Order: sequence, then C-alpha cells, then structure tokens
Amino acid sequence: MPAQHGPMVTGPVVMGIETSCDETGVALVRDGELLGEALSTSMDQHARYGGVVPEIAARAHVQALVPCVRSALASAGLRAADIGAIAVTAGPGLATALHVGVAAAKAYATALGVPLYGVHHLAGHLAADLVDGEPLPDPLIALIVSGGHTSLLRVGDLARDPIVHLGDTLDDAAGECFDKVARVLGLPYPGGPAVDREAVGHDRTALAFPRPLTGRTDAAYTFSFSGLKTAVARWAEAHPDTTIPPGDVIASFQEAVVDVLTAKAIRACRDHAIDDLLVVGGVAANSRLRELAAQRCADAGIRLRIPARRRCTDNGVMIASLGDLLVRSGAAPSAPDLAAMPGAFLDRAQLGLPEPALHAA
Ligand code: KG4
Ligand code: ZN
Repeated sequence: MPAQHGPMVTGPVVMGIETSCDETGVALVRDGELLGEALSTSMDQHARYGGVVPEIAARAHVQALVPCVRSALASAGLRAADIGAIAVTAGPGLATALHVGVAAAKAYATALGVPLYGVHHLAGHLAADLVDGEPLPDPLIALIVSGGHTSLLRVGDLARDPIVHLGDTLDDAAGECFDKVARVLGLPYPGGPAVDREAVGHDRTALAFPRPLTGRTDAAYTFSFSGLKTAVARWAEAHPDTTIPPGDVIASFQEAVVDVLTAKAIRACRDHAIDDLLVVGGVAANSRLRELAAQRCADAGIRLRIPARRRCTDNGVMIASLGDLLVRSGAAPSAPDLAAMPGAFLDRAQLGLPEPALHAA
C-alpha cells in the first residue's frame, strides 16, 4: 500500500504469468496480498528424457495456460474484468516456453485494456515471498540458485534500482549440477529433489569432494560446478564395487555444493557490511542448504530470509508479486511489442521498458 494514498486506496489486481521452463504458473496479487493462484507442471512428460524438452514444455504451456488463468480467478473469486494489470516472465528461459506466456499476456492485456509489465524471471524469484508478509530489506545480498543460474547479487530497491552482480557461475548452475550428478548416480529426474531425499540421514563427511573456487587466491564470489560434477562421476567410475552406501556419496556431494554456496554468500555479506541475506531459486528448497545457511547466518549475525519451500521453485506468485511491486512503485508499463528474451541478463527487475522510460529511470 503506497503510504501517500491513505489506507482506503487499493492498487489494481495484478495477474502474473510464468512459463519460462516446465511450470505454467498464474497468480493474482493486489497490494502485496495473494488473492488466488494456479500451477500446472509438465515435469512428468520430461522425466523419460532426463531433462526438459523445449517443444514438449511449450505445448504443455499452450494447453495449461487458459485453464490456469480460470482456476486462479476462481480461487480468488474474481472475474477477468477485475484484472487491472498483467505481469509476465519475458526471460530468461526456454524460447519456445517464454513465447507462450508472453503471447498470452499480450492478448489478455489487449483484450482487457490493461497495462503489461515484462519481468525478469530471476527478479521474480527475489520477490517470491513478498505475499507472505515483510517487504524486502534494502540493501540485501541475494544468492540466486536455480536450474540455469547461480549468482550473488547486491540488491537495493528491487522495483527501481539496478541489480549489481558480485559473482556468477563460470559454467554449470547449482541446480544443473544437482540434476547432472543425480543422473550419473542413477537417480530420477528432476535430480535436485531426488538428491535432497536420498541424502537424508546419511554421512555427509564420508567423501571429501572438492569445494571449487574456495582457495585464498580464487575470486571470492565466483562459482564453478562442472568440476565437481566430473569429480563425482570419476569417483563413481573408479569405485564400482564400493561398500560406501550410495546415500553417503549423495550426501557428501550435496554437502560440497551447499558448503560453497553458503560460505561465499556469508563472505559477500561480511565484505559489503550487509546483514541481510536472501536465498532464492529452486535449489533454495534444498533442506541441507536451508539448514546450513541458517546455522552459518546465526553464527555470523546475519538475518537470513529464505522463502517457504513451495515458493522456491518456479510459480506464478513470484511474477504477480513482482508485477504488483512495480505497479505500486509507479513503474511505466513495458512496451506493447514486448518480446521474449531467452538470454536476458539480470540488471533490473523489469524487461521491455519503453526507451524514454528507461532513459528517465
Ligand atoms: O528455480 P527453478 O524452479 O527453475 C529455474 O528457474 O531453473 O529451479 C529448478 C532447479 C532444478 O535444477 C532442480 O533440480 C532444483 O532447482 N531443485 C532442487 C531442489 N528442488 C528443486 N535442488 C536441490 N534440492 C531441492 N530440494
Ligand atoms: Zn526459476
């Protein structure tokens, strides 16, 4: 609620649409309040291929989108005419999948005569739990860990300020590493949740897998996970008859990933004298990452914010929440010819701003 308008004025109902990968997410948010949501996943259709097939994902989005919009509206007790603005993930993601969401968002915006806001998927992850209560601290250090990205960021006002990258991954993303190692170890797709499940109750100190880029002379906030993936694959090849329980191998691998992620995130907070850490993205659902981050933040006097597990993986609520934040901050709508941007770099929350608005910002 913008303070200058007084308590009775409410913002528009913002419908958020997410189709960047294999989840079709739709949600309705107004003034930071979640009114309704729907989520449909094509995950099962990809499992036999061991990874997301872009054409299958796009077809599933086409089939799921309108039913998801109807279901989100029904759960909110609203009609399409109640929608006052549309926010949509314009990138990054699978081109085929993004096109479906962007085309649908433009169609709804045109048909309803409401403004359209293209948003960056990863900025959506940063906004994932705004509907659960507190505004984001400003500034904060954010660790984004998803299937395609791993970044440490300095974030100010999410709706207005440029987002500063402190470091990114040089090769595989953290989630990608979970997925690939799971495949090597014979676990089902998607690998991250399978690793998380299998590691429970096992010895995470059984094997000392490498902690990449954690030497004294290494770049402090840069990640690299492809060597770790290779190390696990080599170990498995070299020890076909091992008596080490598979759960211990999995737990030791998981520990290497979450040790590096949390150590670098805490270091970034310390170096920048920022006491708030936000951890988001699909891998933030990992139970050991959540546990170790909580422990290390408590030891370092850092406040940890990490969305509820169901808000960590892709969903429509995060996009509607970010759209709602943009609308309430007075952002100009994106250009009506908004295009899908599969490789969009994260330097601001909104995508497809019209040129003059970008220059004035
Ligand atoms: O954010 P997200 O849903 O989609 C992208 O934007 O990429 O992240 C998906 C990634 C996948 O790599 C998946 O294996 C991983 O998040 N993931 C997990 C867990 N749940 C999802 N990784 C580790 N532990 C989990 N519990
Ligand atoms: Zn995501």
